[in-house]
Amino acid sequence: MKFLQYSVLPFLLVVVILSLSGATLAHSHGDFLHCLSLHLANSSTISKVIYMRNNPSYSSVLNASIQNTRFSTPATPKPLAIITPLKTSHIQSTIYCSKKHGLQLRIRSGGHDFEGLSYVSEVPFVILDLLNFRAVKVDTKNKVAWVQSGATLGELYYGIAAKTKTLAFPAGICPTVGIGGHFSGGGYGILVRKYGLAADHIIDAQLIDANGRVLDRESMGEDLFWAIRGGGGNTFGIVLAWKIKLVPVPVVVTVFTVNKNLEQNVTKILHRWQYIAHKLPDDLYVDVGITKVSSSQTGKKTVQAAFIALFLGGVDELIPLVQERFPELGLAKENCSEMSWAESVLYLGRAPSTSLDMLLDKNVIPRTIFKAKSDYVKEPIPESGIEGFLSMFLEKEADFASMLMVPFGGKMEEIPENELPYPHRAGNLFQASYIVGWRKEENAESGKYISWIRRFYSYMATYVSKSPREAYFNYRDLDIGSNNISGYTSYQQASIWGFKYFKNNFKRLVQVKTMVDPMNFFRNEQSIPPLSSP
Ligand code: FDA
Repeated sequence: MKFLQYSVLPFLLVVVILSLSGATLAHSHGDFLHCLSLHLANSSTISKVIYMRNNPSYSSVLNASIQNTRFSTPATPKPLAIITPLKTSHIQSTIYCSKKHGLQLRIRSGGHDFEGLSYVSEVPFVILDLLNFRAVKVDTKNKVAWVQSGATLGELYYGIAAKTKTLAFPAGICPTVGIGGHFSGGGYGILVRKYGLAADHIIDAQLIDANGRVLDRESMGEDLFWAIRGGGGNTFGIVLAWKIKLVPVPVVVTVFTVNKNLEQNVTKILHRWQYIAHKLPDDLYVDVGITKVSSSQTGKKTVQAAFIALFLGGVDELIPLVQERFPELGLAKENCSEMSWAESVLYLGRAPSTSLDMLLDKNVIPRTIFKAKSDYVKEPIPESGIEGFLSMFLEKEADFASMLMVPFGGKMEEIPENELPYPHRAGNLFQASYIVGWRKEENAESGKYISWIRRFYSYMATYVSKSPREAYFNYRDLDIGSNNISGYTSYQQASIWGFKYFKNNFKRLVQVKTMVDPMNFFRNEQSIPPLSSP
């Protein structure tokens, strides 16, 4: 009896609770699908819009845009259904039915979330996948475009390049990234020094709120319009489309790559880069990618920094400029190539070729397993500090690790910190990001790679922003704090990660959230919480 009381009883209780919640789950799942079927007009639509677990296409639709394959293992929680709406009313019905039947909604555009939050949840959920919302309409006369959230950056750039070589858009480097998540978190790319972020160029949007209302800039009001331009996706509503202002570029731009490794004075050159890159003319962007390679001279493992650049002008103007401002780099004409701006995106994105069709290729960037983190650097890192982090790349766990240093200055220096939710503007020399990958066969040992990047991040603490240690929202990192998986998350708890991503703008984001979604329908592990419990 004693045994039953103290050992078996709790176990029995757990079994009963689990089976009850299983029954509730199956029940709400069935009710949700019934609700949605009632709202969708006819059965042929249903088969194109709802993918249930027993549908033969379920796995291929689920995996189609998973970029970080760390979140596509058999153990990864799967959605009860994937909804791929064909029109706005399908989205409104999905909101209505998931709210009514207590299912969490995960919104997916390009599926590039670093932590998989657009398609994974620990509580019962459905995915709303915007793969059919991918139209791009470019109006060169007025230098604007409307782009739907499910389109990729590559599709946007392709759409612009098909009409003109003298307009561009200052968004991310990787063509497979989705517009929806990218614009929602800010979005930087190779034009960041010249024009700032993608979010800085959004002039209107179409959003569906938690009550299913379709709003534009005027009807949503300036507070909500401010919040959706960088305050993060899956918090304020579902953004269907964005109106953007295009920016001018010359017909011919120049790109170059110069590689330097440990045997070629890389520490000193990196040290100099920190004093130079953010102060160069805005037309010149030189980023740095650090990886472990085999030395071409000795064949031994070494650490290499690739200095990769975009110049908004011709090679003859670029060479004397770099020779004068950054002579340590030793730039020569043979390092440079002239091309169009759209081709330069592929070049800087390390695509296998600069053929414009690559912009439409969903597999142009290989899908990998990774964990990533980000920082902002405000003071040059001393040579000893650089030596320290370079040496960490020689460790065994860093075979598939890299660090990207993106120079700021230029336009980023001019935009006030509270202009949009993205606060990391003036005073930053560069944004640093770190990424570690591993092979699928090594998944069981993922812990050692994740420990490596956490050690790397601890090492960098001395040299990066402090109080808060700032991070880029679009480089999502759940290590820096998260909301409760279910139930209420207090302002204090969310502030732990919120101030790192948004600094003081976090307070205004919480106010907007409280106003537009007090019931916290749109939520995930790092969505802005409302001020009080619903
Ligand atoms: P995904 O669909 O995974 O969504 C990300 C988040 O936004 C999720 O929380 C999701 O629910 C939400 N969301 C998506 N669509 C929404 C919508 N329509 N309405 C409301 N919420 C929505 N960043 C950068 O600034 N510059 C760069 O050059 C790159 N490069 C890059 C390369 C690679 C290979 C990866 C994996 C990532 C980047 N990124 C980047 C980061 C990228 O900007 C970030 O992951 C974006 O959130 C991705 O947007 P997706 O729509 O693809 O993601």
